[in-house]
Amino acid sequence: MEKSSVSTLLKMEGVTKRFPGVIANDRVDLELHNGEVLALLGENGAGKSTLMNILAGLYRPDEGFITIRGEKVSIHSPQDSMHLGIGMIHQEFMLVQTMTVAENIVLGLQDLPLIPPMAEIKRKIIELSDRYSLKVDPDRFIYELSVGEQQRVEILKLVYRGAEVLILDEPTAVLTPQESRDLNGIIKTMLSEGKSAIFITHKMDEVLSFSHRVQVLRQGKTVAACKTEGTTPQELANMMVGREILFKIKKAPYRPGEPKLILDGVTVEDPTGRPVLKDISLTIYEGEILGIAGVAGNGQTELTEVITGLQKAVSGRITLDSQDMTNKQPLHLIKAGMSHIPADRGAMGIVGDMSVADNLVMKRYRSEPIASRHGVMHATKIFGFAKKMISFFKIATPKPETLVKFLSGGNIQKTILAREIDSCGGVLIAVYPSRGLDVGATESVRNNIVAQRDKKAAVLLVSEELDELLSVADKIGVMFEGELMGIVDAATTNKEELGMMMAGMRGGNA
Ligand SMILES: Nc1ncnc2c1ncn2[C@@H]1O[C@H](COP(=O)(O)OP(=O)(O)OP(=O)(O)O)[C@@H](O)[C@H]1O
Ligand SMILES: [Mg+2]
Repeated sequence: MEKSSVSTLLKMEGVTKRFPGVIANDRVDLELHNGEVLALLGENGAGKSTLMNILAGLYRPDEGFITIRGEKVSIHSPQDSMHLGIGMIHQEFMLVQTMTVAENIVLGLQDLPLIPPMAEIKRKIIELSDRYSLKVDPDRFIYELSVGEQQRVEILKLVYRGAEVLILDEPTAVLTPQESRDLNGIIKTMLSEGKSAIFITHKMDEVLSFSHRVQVLRQGKTVAACKTEGTTPQELANMMVGREILFKIKKAPYRPGEPKLILDGVTVEDPTGRPVLKDISLTIYEGEILGIAGVAGNGQTELTEVITGLQKAVSGRITLDSQDMTNKQPLHLIKAGMSHIPADRGAMGIVGDMSVADNLVMKRYRSEPIASRHGVMHATKIFGFAKKMISFFKIATPKPETLVKFLSGGNIQKTILAREIDSCGGVLIAVYPSRGLDVGATESVRNNIVAQRDKKAAVLLVSEELDELLSVADKIGVMFEGELMGIVDAATTNKEELGMMMAGMRGGNA
């Protein structure tokens, strides 16, 4: 990217924000120059989203102030923020699922007449989507769109409203590698028009390719602010975590045991009768991690859902420990020892209005020591158990009683991971487990998954990151258009071979 000019567009000075039991932002200074991308980095819970939500008008700072082009501003609401030319894409999308793309884009605009001129609005949307290569149909409903498409709607919403400062809170965490590259292009177009951006991400390669400067937060405080040029991923990771990150996995030699989970000719159809998973056969052994690679949307979700009882197989057979598990209820599978880290954690993984402790014990409440022999739960035991899990998995929460919805994005994630990895009774189905996690947490989650395998669990690991699969998995299967293109040895394959299979070529022992 080109060099940025040095005039200051936006400044935050001495910004402090407290929540019960935490100082989310502690006297933070931040500066954004005209036409630049600032990468905002930090561990899960470091205070990145909070700081940006202050700019977006969702939170008021307890102390400190904000200036834009040298003038002090007060931001009391998202509307104020919008009028100042600030637009934010949140970690959790905020689109209304049952409304169309066009309706979402103009939702909340105050200067809109009572009956909005939809034809004109749509024309403007189409014009903008051409200009930024953000292909979306204004008449589609949000629930019909993929995550990548929904994000394009979020970006369109901002450019429609004339945002000059774009705040992107982990925009690529849910995107495929291709969609991330598209986003890179979109941001470049915006910069060339003089817009500026603050970009939150945990992916170091993105920091290096997207940003001009970086600012690192740790426990609410700024620990570094510097030019991106000249830094390395290793340095950035160390600054965030405050210790050396090794990017290494501790793994015992591969010694698979008996076949544990077997799929034989499993086919799944969508509601219209189109096969979305075609004749899948695979075996996962005790003490083995089978990685699944593939561009998102090629049947990975259906594969994990048919295994975990969330989708029906129309043909084929699934066995666990030689017992037929085809089309069994999820509870039946949980009792048989299956754990599941789902892709859609908001919808399936967690209850935001329950405490961290309750979410952690959710799968254990039926068994001792949490429940007594008579099924009565022991509050003190729940807290004891929760405290151990919180410290082992380093979940940043003020107390075990804190409601999950008050945790940072990555710590919500860790709560699910902790519960599922801990309750694993022999089979772990992990879908994008390191999504949204900081580098330190990623390292520890990968090691925890490997530890389950070393304890003889059979693990299915779906990931979009080939580096993750190559370092963690023993075998890697590649999916394309609902089919398995083949299964290869992780130790001997390489990215080129996997890439070819991801594009639809058969390989390995297909
Ligand atoms: N609405 C809230 N109520 C109470 N505490 C909150 C609230 N929002 C955030 N926090 C706390 O503030 C701290 C910072 O959270 P924040 O969401 O800003 O972290 P983050 O850097 O964005 O992390 P992540 O990478 O996990 O998204 C955390 O300890 C979090 O629990
Ligand atoms: Mg966040």
